[in-house]
Amino acid sequence: MPQTIPELQDREFVFTDKDFQHISELVGQKVGIVLAEHKKNMVYSRLARRLRAQGYKHFSDYLKFLQSDAGQDELVEFVNAITTNLTHFFREGHHFDHLRDVIIPEWLNHPRSRRIRIWSAGCSAGMEPYSIAMVLHQAIPNLKNWDIKILATDIDTNMLDTGVRGEYDMQAAERIPRMYQKYVEPIAGTDKASMAKEIRPLIAFKKLNLLESWPVKGPFDVVFCRNVVIYFSKDTQRVVFDRFASVMPSGSTLFIGHSENLFNITTKFASKGKTIYQRVA
Ligand SMILES: C[S@@+](CC[C@H](N)C(=O)[O-])C[C@H]1O[C@@H](n2cnc3c(N)ncnc32)[C@H](O)[C@@H]1O
Repeated sequence: MPQTIPELQDREFVFTDKDFQHISELVGQKVGIVLAEHKKNMVYSRLARRLRAQGYKHFSDYLKFLQSDAGQDELVEFVNAITTNLTHFFREGHHFDHLRDVIIPEWLNHPRSRRIRIWSAGCSAGMEPYSIAMVLHQAIPNLKNWDIKILATDIDTNMLDTGVRGEYDMQAAERIPRMYQKYVEPIAGTDKASMAKEIRPLIAFKKLNLLESWPVKGPFDVVFCRNVVIYFSKDTQRVVFDRFASVMPSGSTLFIGHSENLFNITTKFASKGKTIYQRVA
């Protein structure tokens, strides 16, 4: 008889150690995230609504369904439920200052080309790419004479839908610095705000799993991959950053999350400041 996890005994669904192990393997293989033991409660609560939606009482039955042909659509919902999507506008503000004060002036003063490609990899609900778009729109005069695109990708389809909609709670939009508030359009009669139409066309949202094939063109002048690989194993991080290096020319910039670093991961980038790296040949 499989052992139910003691602290989860009185709960609505049957969830055993073996189920958790099974979920960990599946998540590791599909998403790259390593689920530590102390994440059991989190996994239970995030997946409980999926079991409810699909009418299962036992995690083991839900897992069997996920691996059947009929369960392939549910696999998308499973991944959506498991990912952590915390984000906000202008998160880690010094990256946006660096973009505005160092990178953009270089483009303006030494225009090698007016084709600029930026990738927000693991963009969550879109606040990261919209923050980038606001900086570009504000800092580059005659933007229409440039060929600029921000590719915004994530594995989580719910987050991408939010990004495409471009509507956020007013409370979230209030975090946008005053100088960029002109890109926030309150929606009358609601507590929501919409992203201005001038910046929307700069961004293309696409589903992309960093562990699978990358149908991206590049080369990328700037890559934001922040707070995404944090739960990946070192080996997976190595593979992912080497792949970024392969689509980034020498001199391009990589921004990573505040608790991440490239030490012992890759030598293809040189540190240019706190969590800011430059691709080196
Ligand atoms: C914590 S959010 C970070 C969002 C944003 N970059 C920021 O720093 O505010 C991490 C995002 O990475 C995405 N993610 C996790 N694993 C992924 C993978 N294998 N491929 C693509 N995206 C992934 C998640 O869905 C989530 O939206």
